[in-house]
Amino acid sequence: MKYVKLLNGVEMPILGFGVYQIPDLEECERVVLEAIEVGYRSIDTAQVYGNEEAVGNAIKKSRVDRKEFFVTTKVWISNSGYEKAKASIEESLKKLQTDYIDLLLIHQPFGDYYGTYRAMEEYYKAGKLRAIGVSNFYPDRFVDIVNFVEIKPMINQVETHVFNQQIIPQEIMKEYGTQIESWGPFAEGKNNLFTNETLVEIGKKYDKTAAQVALRYLIQRDIVVIPKTVKKDRMIQNFSVFDFELSGDDMKEILKLDKKESLFLSHVAPETVKFLINTKL
Ligand SMILES: NC(=O)c1ccc[n+]([C@@H]2O[C@H](COP(=O)([O-])OP(=O)(O)OC[C@H]3O[C@@H](n4cnc5c(N)ncnc54)[C@H](OP(=O)(O)O)[C@@H]3O)[C@@H](O)[C@H]2O)c1
Repeated sequence: MKYVKLLNGVEMPILGFGVYQIPDLEECERVVLEAIEVGYRSIDTAQVYGNEEAVGNAIKKSRVDRKEFFVTTKVWISNSGYEKAKASIEESLKKLQTDYIDLLLIHQPFGDYYGTYRAMEEYYKAGKLRAIGVSNFYPDRFVDIVNFVEIKPMINQVETHVFNQQIIPQEIMKEYGTQIESWGPFAEGKNNLFTNETLVEIGKKYDKTAAQVALRYLIQRDIVVIPKTVKKDRMIQNFSVFDFELSGDDMKEILKLDKKESLFLSHVAPETVKFLINTKL
């Protein structure tokens, strides 16, 4: 496993496992246990995914030392604000059945997220959070928050895949020492990513799938990735991306796939903001 070093020196695996859209607790517990068997130690959940408890159960049942894990969760909009965020951190700790969270993120830049961030700084100083950061903070909101908080966000988790590569936003994050993390590294299969000709052809040279090339590309750009799958063979496949290296020419070819646009939701569109703030836990 390769690691990235966050602003405060904490090391985070560059490859983790995401559990979005696995709301069934039994299924989520099973897949996280399988992912741990495969070798994943970084698990990405969120309050709004409704499965923190299943992640906590799987970690407990795995009998792997808690210290080996890197657990991320995220505070949802309806828990924003200093007091509500603190209560929600306590709830997340309880559901995850742990004394500390490795990385806590503000899930969306909406609501009283400055209040949320102050609560996070307090928990960070108390040693209950090993790292703190944000998610879906596109350049304008990112530059704002990074300039008005005491402890700079160590991570910004944003939509990042071969069709939306975040080249400029990554440079802006770098200016402040914030590590970029990709959500949706496969764009959830949109745009036929898994059969994309460029990725398939490059993959043939290394005996790798389009999925593996897509992950490897992001890893070579020093982007943390957290692919999701409920299938064990795919967990193995997505984990096997450290035994080959894309050439400079491959990297240039894949760069051409960048459309510099979201395939999901534009975070600056009022409809998106309305939709997200109406999404309750
Ligand atoms: N911060 C945010 O706002 C935010 C938003 C979205 C996601 N996330 C995080 O990022 C993680 C990853 O993103 P995501 O779950 O949205 O999407 P993703 O990882 O880009 O794609 C997941 C999809 O790809 C399929 N898949 C996985 N590996 C495959 C392979 N090797 N070959 C073919 N198909 C494969 C999965 O199907 P099967 O499961 O059927 O295999 C699933 O449909 C999430 O789980 C979550 O932790 C965060």
